[in-house]
Amino acid sequence: MIGHLISLHLGITRDLREAVCLAAAELQGAYAIVVIEEERPDRIIAARNGAPLLLGLSKNGNYTASDASALLQVTRQMVYLEEGDVAELTSDNYHVINITKNKLGTKVRRVELETDLTREAVELGPYAHFMQKEIFEQPVAIANTLEMVFSAHSLSPRLFGSEAESVFQKTSGILILACGTSYHAGLVAMHWLEAISGLPCSVEIASEYRYREPIANPDTLVVGISQSGETADTLAALKYAKSRGHRYSLAICNVPESALIRQTDLRFLSRAGPEIGVASTKAFTTQLAALMLLAAVFAKLRKTISKKQEQKLIDGLRHLPVAIQLALLIEPQIIEWAKNFSHKRHALFLGRGVHYPIAMEGALKLKEISYIHAEAYAAGELKHGPLALVDKEMPVVAIAPNDSLQEKLKSNLQEVRARGGELYVIADADSSIQESKGVHIIRLAEHAGMFSPILHTIPLQLLAYHVALQKGADVDKPRNLAKAVTVE
Ligand code: M6R
Repeated sequence: MIGHLISLHLGITRDLREAVCLAAAELQGAYAIVVIEEERPDRIIAARNGAPLLLGLSKNGNYTASDASALLQVTRQMVYLEEGDVAELTSDNYHVINITKNKLGTKVRRVELETDLTREAVELGPYAHFMQKEIFEQPVAIANTLEMVFSAHSLSPRLFGSEAESVFQKTSGILILACGTSYHAGLVAMHWLEAISGLPCSVEIASEYRYREPIANPDTLVVGISQSGETADTLAALKYAKSRGHRYSLAICNVPESALIRQTDLRFLSRAGPEIGVASTKAFTTQLAALMLLAAVFAKLRKTISKKQEQKLIDGLRHLPVAIQLALLIEPQIIEWAKNFSHKRHALFLGRGVHYPIAMEGALKLKEISYIHAEAYAAGELKHGPLALVDKEMPVVAIAPNDSLQEKLKSNLQEVRARGGELYVIADADSSIQESKGVHIIRLAEHAGMFSPILHTIPLQLLAYHVALQKGADVDKPRNLAKAVTVE
C-alpha cells in the first residue's frame, strides 16, 4: 500500500524524497519506512512517526535501523529520528527534514551521539540463546541499575530526575500503566508502594486504560513501565492520562533514547543492557529493582520508614546481585522439572499477594516460548472455578515463600493434591513445606524477605527456558511475537 502511494507521488514529483514526504503526510498511525529507488540504489529515504527509526553513521557508509543494537557491528555513532522526520542518506552524507508543519519538509538538525552499547552486549558469547544469556546477566544488570544508590548510601528522589523531589512532595497516589511483563512489574510495585510508603496505587493494562473514561486526580503520578520505551499502547495511555488531567509522569525504562523517556517529566533508566530475546527476563527484574527503589524513596519522603529501616532497604538492594547469583544455582533441578513439563498441554501457576503477579509472569514466560497453555491464578481463587481443571495431567507451579500468606497457600496446595494435581513448589530455604509424593520442591538459597518476588522469578524464567529448549522451540524468537510492539 505505502509503496503504491509513494510511486503515485513519484510519478508527479519525480523526486523520491518529495514523494516519500507527500505519502507520509497522508499516512495515519505509526510507521517507520525505508525506501530505495531502483534507479538510484546509492540513496535511502527513511521516515518515521510513532515507530522507532535511527541512522548509523560511519566512515565506511551510513545506515538505518529500528534499533541501535542492529548497527553495532558497523558503528556506534547514531542519530535518533524524531516524529515526522524524513532522512535522506547516501554512503557519505545525510540530512534530515521534518514534515510536521510543511508537507515537503523543513530542514532540521538532529544530535549525533555515540551509544553506550557495545558489540559484546549484543553478541551471544558462550551462551546458546539470548534468553539464557539475559537470565544469567541478571546479577550484573541489577548491580548496574542500582549503582547510583550504592554509591550515594541514601535514597534520594533525584535518582528519578532533578525535578523529582518537588513532584514527589505533591504526589498523593500512583497510577501505573504498562503491558505484558512490564504490567506484572507494576502489579508487584503496587504491593510495595502501598505497604512501604503508604501511597495508594493502581495498575492498569495500558491498552485497556486508553479506551475507557478514567477519573484523574492531578496529583496522582502516572508511571509508565516499559523495557523498550516504544510500546504503542503504553505511550498512548500515558498521553491519554495527561489529557485526562494527571499532572506529572515518570518513565521506568531500559532504553535511554526511547519515545517513553522523551515523553515523560521524570525518568529512571534501568541499566539492564540490550535485551534481545523476545521473552523479557533481565528487563523485568531490573524494573522490579527500580520500583522497589521508588517505593523506598517515597517511604523516606513520607517518613513511613525509620533511618534504620532505610539502611536495611539499602543493604537489601546491595545484596540483590549476590542473592540472584545464588538463585541461579538451582538450574540443574529446574532442568529435571522441565522434563515433566515438555509433553504437557496445560499448566497452572499459583501465587498469593505480591507473588501472584510473579505467578502471572511465570505463566506468561512459559506460554510465550514453549506454547504450553499456562494460566496464573491467585491461589485463593482456585475453589471458585479453576480447581475443576486439576487432575493428574495438570502440573501446578506454586510460588510459596515464607510470608504471611504461606499457611493459606498450603491449604490451597492441599486442594490441588486432593484432585491428583502434581505440585511444583518454589519455596524459601527455610520453608516448612516438605517434599512428598506428587509434591516437588525447589528451595531458594536464601530467605529473601521483601525482595522475594525478584528471587522467585528466577526459577520461573529458567523453567520456561528449559521447557522450550526441550521442545525444540525457537527460544529467542517465538512465533507471532515481536520484541517491541510498536503497533496497537
Ligand atoms: O517493551 P515493553 O516492556 O513495553 O513491552 C511490553 C510487552 O510487550 C512485553 O513485556 C512482552 O509481554 C514480553 N514479550 C514478555 O516477555
